[in-house]
Amino acid sequence: MAFEPNIVGFLCNWCSYAGADLAGVSRIQYPTNLRVIRVMCSGRVEPAVVLSILAEGADGVMITGCHIGDCHYIDGNLHAKRKYELTRRLVEKTGLKTGRLRLEWVSAAEGQRFADLVNDFTEQIRELGPSPLSGTTPDLGLLLKVRAAKAAAEGFRLRALVGKEEKTVTDGNVYGEEVTQEEWDKVMTESVETEYSRHRIHIALTEAPGSVKELSEKLGMGSQAVLEHIVALRQLGWVDVQEIRGTSPVYVTMEVPQ
Ligand code: FES
Repeated sequence: MAFEPNIVGFLCNWCSYAGADLAGVSRIQYPTNLRVIRVMCSGRVEPAVVLSILAEGADGVMITGCHIGDCHYIDGNLHAKRKYELTRRLVEKTGLKTGRLRLEWVSAAEGQRFADLVNDFTEQIRELGPSPLSGTTPDLGLLLKVRAAKAAAEGFRLRALVGKEEKTVTDGNVYGEEVTQEEWDKVMTESVETEYSRHRIHIALTEAPGSVKELSEKLGMGSQAVLEHIVALRQLGWVDVQEIRGTSPVYVTMEVPQ
């Protein structure tokens, strides 16, 4: 049977949803693979929600909003752009193809553009094939990685960074110092790596207690990096020592404080 992509589309109420509506009333043909979720603004689409949808096996996620400068909440689509970039970074970490994501701007008058975008994205997903997380036998190793990415996206640090990005890059930091986009991107890259790795370790320990060596082998992460993350996770109260086996501490998860 031919592969029919299962795509979730977030459409901003004020522009893109109206654009989709216009495509409908104008009888412009486009694939029926898109499952539409209407949101009041593209800026409301949280990275953790997108990652959760991918974890559930969707083949692709498309987010559409008003063109830059046209957002009904002034700068919601700028936040959407920042959130989308974070989502892409996290998806990239997991190994899932970032081509399964797309962010586009569509106005209420662009029915044809909406249909063309749905066509194009559906074809792109068709070329990528079914998500390794779809069907009855999802790739469980990948699923754990996507869950770690979702947990990282839900955490305070990445949410706070994304929330402050627009203002910091435009107006400078709290000390009045200028922060370039390049400098900010470096901070984001390091923070995404740290948060993702810590959640991978935490999830692995939720499955079974383990030593640094065991975690390093299981996650394909250097033992020095695992040790450094474990030290930080202990300080955060996420993990603790369960027992000493031979000369190695065996770690176990604690409940993550919210
Ligand atoms: Fe459409 Fe904000 S209202 S993107």
